[in-house]
Amino acid sequence: MSFIQEQRQFLKSNFNSSKTPTTSDQVKGVKAPPLQAPPKDGHLIIDLPRVKEHTPYEIDVYKLLTERRSLRKYSSQAMKIEELSFILETSCMIQKILGDNIASFRPAPSGGARHPFETFLSIQRVEGIPEGYYRYLPLTHQLEQLCEALNTNTVIASVNGQSFAGDANVVFYLAVVPYRAEWRYVEKSHKVILLDLGHVAQNICLSAEIVGAGACPIASYDQNLADDLFELDGEEAYVTYVLPVGKK
Ligand SMILES: Cc1cc2nc3c(=O)[nH]c(=O)nc-3n(C[C@H](O)[C@H](O)[C@H](O)COP(=O)(O)O)c2cc1C
Repeated sequence: MSFIQEQRQFLKSNFNSSKTPTTSDQVKGVKAPPLQAPPKDGHLIIDLPRVKEHTPYEIDVYKLLTERRSLRKYSSQAMKIEELSFILETSCMIQKILGDNIASFRPAPSGGARHPFETFLSIQRVEGIPEGYYRYLPLTHQLEQLCEALNTNTVIASVNGQSFAGDANVVFYLAVVPYRAEWRYVEKSHKVILLDLGHVAQNICLSAEIVGAGACPIASYDQNLADDLFELDGEEAYVTYVLPVGKK
């Protein structure tokens, strides 16, 4: 099979395939992996203001769904912490946990409610948050600062020179944690993981519009540079989707 045929094959369902019928760790009785890696001792943790029940933003849902566009030109306005918090709460926050980390509910759907991803951020211009590299903590709706030394040239390089990323208020890096899905779905996980990430990304795009910003999904990124920004090992966790978000 040629490489392109293999790639095409990947897009097909393998749920009924008998090629590699593997018993999952879940069936073997292995404990479910954590929903979020714990923050490291000594790291700055920033609480994000919750919206909770009623959005403070006026929205016309029809306009929102039909007028969203990828945005690559941003104003020099800073984003408010409440606006970034809104985007994270409506795309990635854990709302409910079922059993012993068997599943969690978040705003976007996920195969088996496994949500096999972590959200990393390059924060470049958000009021109340020092610039730097961060990880979102979806259990507690907080940010963990990983490094203060932001370098926008490295951010631009991480998306193969797409310079608009350097002007964004914040760049979202969605990193997959494949084992979280593999624990249940083994070799059936990987296509589902990509479908999951698309849902999260769309929530980020729409939430960005609601706060007067815009997002541009990016698939053309440099795997090693993007992983290095957040010290990801490239095996158990690695960047899979990048979304610069900036004010209009
Ligand atoms: C999976 C995916 C990858 C994309 N990658 C890039 C990219 O690397 N750079 C870019 O400028 N736009 C990228 N885009 C944005 C598309 O160019 C854009 O969605 C398309 O032109 C349609 O425009 P609209 O989003 O404004 O409706 C990507 C979009 C998707 C969904």
